[in-house]
Amino acid sequence: MRILVTGSSGKLGSVTVRNLRRAGHDVTGIDLLASDTTDYILDVQQAGAVIEFTSGYEAIIHTAALHGRHMDLNYSRQSFIDTNITGTLNLLNTCVKNGIKRFLFTSTTSIYGNALVDGEKAVWVTEELTVQPRDIYDITKQACEELCRDFFEKEQLMTSVYRVGRFLPEHDNLMLNHRLYRGLDERDGAEALRLGAETDFTSFQIFNISSGSPFEIEDLTELKFDPLNVIAKRIPKAIEIYRQKGWNFPASIDRVYRSDKAMLLLGYNPKYTFEFLLDQLP
Ligand SMILES: NC(=O)c1ccc[n+]([C@@H]2O[C@H](COP(=O)([O-])OP(=O)(O)OC[C@H]3O[C@@H](n4cnc5c(N)ncnc54)[C@H](O)[C@@H]3O)[C@@H](O)[C@H]2O)c1
Repeated sequence: MRILVTGSSGKLGSVTVRNLRRAGHDVTGIDLLASDTTDYILDVQQAGAVIEFTSGYEAIIHTAALHGRHMDLNYSRQSFIDTNITGTLNLLNTCVKNGIKRFLFTSTTSIYGNALVDGEKAVWVTEELTVQPRDIYDITKQACEELCRDFFEKEQLMTSVYRVGRFLPEHDNLMLNHRLYRGLDERDGAEALRLGAETDFTSFQIFNISSGSPFEIEDLTELKFDPLNVIAKRIPKAIEIYRQKGWNFPASIDRVYRSDKAMLLLGYNPKYTFEFLLDQLP
């Protein structure tokens, strides 16, 4: 399939380009920044250039965005709206104009926002949980998700949304802790996007994408107040490995991201799980 990937110099975009190419797709990467996975420098905010450039593709995978790091750097609300909402709208319009059939949008699990706060137990985060955006980043992602829904319903464009978990650079202890309940390896994220690009959707779909969790729904209260007990029950070998390394487990776990829907509908099967990382440790 001939696929355009935006944000192809970024963490997720670059891995997505490589993963799609390995699977035999004909991929073009676009970004504001040059890199070995970016073929053209193109700003998604430039509607005319986007339309001119994107004819002949069968799918667009949109990962380019301003995100959490730009929040920390105090980028303005306007810049979030310009890059995230206007950029996404330009790409959706170009799909209609240029006859591109599929559009995959990278959203974020942070869109659940205040719905992730529960004083009594950890929150079981499926796509059924109502989003409660907390900041301009989440607000722009929510608006883009709704634009995708609108284009599916009114323009018959096969849009789908991937709410990806966190894949920030972290030291090993923190990364493994996050991988217990909310983390994503970008290689799993890229694989979910490949599967989504190869799937025919008859209705608009939103998927949570994380690298899995060993926890079950009956663990939620204990996870909030005594995660160590649950970890000892679900992955006993982790206790000794952490002890040898002098690492700490989280004192409380507030959420569990679930990707069951992607596993069911896309055949998504995350590889870089907590247990996988544990087994790779030197
Ligand atoms: N990193 C995370 O933990 C995380 C978590 C949840 C969701 N996400 C989402 O995943 C996606 C990828 O995140 P990432 O961490 O790989 O980001 P990144 O910053 O590494 O990559 C984003 C890329 O988009 C490019 N870009 C920005 N504005 C552009 C524009 N106007 N035109 C063209 N290119 C532009 C940037 O140059 C950059 O290379 C984003 O949509 C982000 O919101 C990331």
